[in-house]
Amino acid sequence: MPSVLESYGEILMPEEAAEPILAKPVRNGLLEWLTEIWAKDELAEVGLKARRRAIFHGAPGTGKTTLAHHLAARLGLPMLVVRPERLKSKWIGQTAMQIGALFDALKAEPEPFFLFFDEFDSLSAQRMDSGNNEVGEQDHNHGVNALLANFDRYEGFIVAATNHGRRVDEAIWRRFEIQIELALPGDHERKRILERYFAPFVLPEDRLASLSEALETASPALIRSFAENIKRQIVVGPKAGWTMDREAVVGRVIETVKPHPDIGLPRLWSLGLEDRAVPRFPWPLQRDLSAYPAEAAPEPVSGGEVVRLRRPA
Ligand SMILES: Nc1ncnc2c1ncn2[C@@H]1O[C@H](COP(=O)(O)OP(=O)(O)OP(=O)(O)O)[C@@H](O)[C@H]1O
Ligand SMILES: [Mg+2]
Repeated sequence: MPSVLESYGEILMPEEAAEPILAKPVRNGLLEWLTEIWAKDELAEVGLKARRRAIFHGAPGTGKTTLAHHLAARLGLPMLVVRPERLKSKWIGQTAMQIGALFDALKAEPEPFFLFFDEFDSLSAQRMDSGNNEVGEQDHNHGVNALLANFDRYEGFIVAATNHGRRVDEAIWRRFEIQIELALPGDHERKRILERYFAPFVLPEDRLASLSEALETASPALIRSFAENIKRQIVVGPKAGWTMDREAVVGRVIETVKPHPDIGLPRLWSLGLEDRAVPRFPWPLQRDLSAYPAEAAPEPVSGGEVVRLRRPA
């Protein structure tokens, strides 16, 4: 059903959510939060409330939106993704009013919503005072005050996401009871992300490791595009008559999928086809590990004798 809420952003339903692959400390923190929410009645008995507001900060493509949607789904709630540009009215001076109207609309809904503010810094940047009484400045400051007032009154869950945590007004930052940094994935997470997005294809563990190393500093979003573009080429390339050897395929993918300029270049992009992970990339990709040829036995050292490295006496 169309809702007045749709004028503020998109509504994402629980069934469409996917679980992001996260580092253990982040996962534990979230599990703790969910457990607390599920135990809200017991908490109320001892005079406590479950925490309701969290802010996620981290580089683009680290899974902030995915994670918020996943949490909303775990709570069985639809999520409203509020777009700041919808609140920053084209008639300057009305941002505070728009924010008030959004919270009124939420209250009028028969069902609770999980509220997600995307690009939150643009709405909640530090209040300004240039001394010139500028209209844009005033509008922004009134918006920040409106957020503060409405956050305090709102009973539902609010998650905000930003790529620029430092820009967020301090008083607003403090209103979030949970602050989570979504860092770039480590080696373990990169391998799991690669496995997820290469499926149904599988990579032998040592090849996965060498690819993961070449993708150090890549965001999950970049790793996903890398894997999915390889799969896309496997399907489309032969129909389009493209050269399908390993170097041609990997080369086209690294040419067309580029890392976000604010994140350092992963090794695969700085070295390109020269990267040692390229000849180690299993090709053609298989759906079953047993379909890969057995590893060639390592070359024997000096005429078959095994030379052991001895610790000097
Ligand atoms: N931790 C993760 N595990 C698995 N997939 C992920 C993860 N993080 C991101 N992705 C994938 O990358 C894409 C982008 O993720 P998402 O939009 O959640 O990132 P974001 O942090 O919200 O980015 P932005 O700052 O640009 O809004 C999605 O398609 C998502 O499936
Ligand atoms: Mg996002």
